[in-house]
Amino acid sequence: MALLPILCYPDPKLHTVAKPIDAVDERMKTLVADMLETMYDAKGIGLAATQVDVHERLIVIDVSEERDQPMVLINPELVWTSPTTHLNEEGCLSVPGIYDGVERFDAVHCKAQDLSGQARTIEADGLLAVCIQHEMDHLLGKVFVEYLSPLKRNRIKTKMIKARREDAR
Ligand code: NI
Repeated sequence: MALLPILCYPDPKLHTVAKPIDAVDERMKTLVADMLETMYDAKGIGLAATQVDVHERLIVIDVSEERDQPMVLINPELVWTSPTTHLNEEGCLSVPGIYDGVERFDAVHCKAQDLSGQARTIEADGLLAVCIQHEMDHLLGKVFVEYLSPLKRNRIKTKMIKARREDAR
C-alpha cells in the first residue's frame, strides 16, 4: 500500500471529468487500498479518484466514528434525490483549511458497484448523503468552492496559491 499525493485546488486537473470503469481488476484493487490509506492518513471522510489524479469513476468513503467502515463506490449514479435540501458546512482534502456552506439533498439513493463488481443501491441520509454528493461532484470535475460566490472563490484561490508557495520554501 502507498500514500498517494492529493491534488490541491486550484490545480486544473481537479476539473477533469472521470471515465466509467469497465473492470474491477487487480490494478483497481490496489488503487482502492491506496486511496483508503490516503484518506485515513489525511483524516478525511471521503476521497474521489480525481483527487489523486486518476480520472475514473471511483470514490471511497468512511463516515463512521471508529474509522472502520470503508465504502467503495465504483461507477456511482444517483437514482433518487430527496425533494428537500439543506445547507451543509463542507471541507475538502483538496482545499485544506477551508470550510463553507453548500446546499445538498437531504437524502439520496446511490447505485454503485463494490470491489467484487456487485451493483447495489445505497440509501443514504445525513453525513453519508452529503459525502456521496460531494465526492460525486469531484468525478464531474467540480470542487465544492465552485458553489460559493466568485468573490469568495477568488479569495480561496489566492489563499491556496500563497500557502503552496510558502510550503515550497
Ligand atoms: Ni472533496
